[in-house]
Amino acid sequence: MRLKIAPSILSANRKKLLAEVKEIEADADRIHIDIMDGKFVPPTTFQPEDIKKIKTQLLKEVHLMVEHPLDYIGAYADAGAKNIIFHQESKDDTDKVIQEIKKNGMKASLAIKPKTPLEKIMPYLDKVEMVLLMTVEPGYAGQEFIDGVLPKIRELRKLRPKMDIEVDGGISASTIKKAVDAGANVIVAGTAIFGQKDRRKAIQGLLKAAKN
Ligand code: DX5
Ligand code: ZN
Repeated sequence: MRLKIAPSILSANRKKLLAEVKEIEADADRIHIDIMDGKFVPPTTFQPEDIKKIKTQLLKEVHLMVEHPLDYIGAYADAGAKNIIFHQESKDDTDKVIQEIKKNGMKASLAIKPKTPLEKIMPYLDKVEMVLLMTVEPGYAGQEFIDGVLPKIRELRKLRPKMDIEVDGGISASTIKKAVDAGANVIVAGTAIFGQKDRRKAIQGLLKAAKN
């Protein structure tokens, strides 16, 4: 499967956000936008207006780490999101959220935290575009990749040979290969891209490390 790199703008410089997104445009597949509500996870991040201001040809995917995803869908559709990823552990009804995202003309994807078993998302696999398996506890960039998620990636890949499987958290040149070998094909990286001086080179380095 083609490897797709999704730089997470959580690690970008807020004051130079537009310029930093431009730098990755030629090499990235999409931009990954982490939205936090201060409840599902302690921090808060961007507002829909911040995201609307990002003019880019890259697909905007929004990762909602919020208790009530239903409250965010309209605003992010308006901000130009094409794919909304929400958590199975959120407080809204999963089917309702999927329907609402689709009603707003976007693709719906489902995320689970490292300790949540695949069983929880089985009933929805045919209704979503992509599954995001968190490889750190959600909330912060710069954490260490949790190897314990690898069997879950392998199991899901066996079940869905062609589905996009995304991993998020702790991806670097030294961890990307194990995630890809296990079956992930959409790779989020914050620190490993925006934390580096040369972001284009960082993406190329990740792609190379995935193959070696
Ligand atoms: C963490 C976020 C991630 C984060 C990844 O809760 O969902 O997208 O930005 O950052 P790194 O790649 O530094 O682990
Ligand atoms: Zn994320």
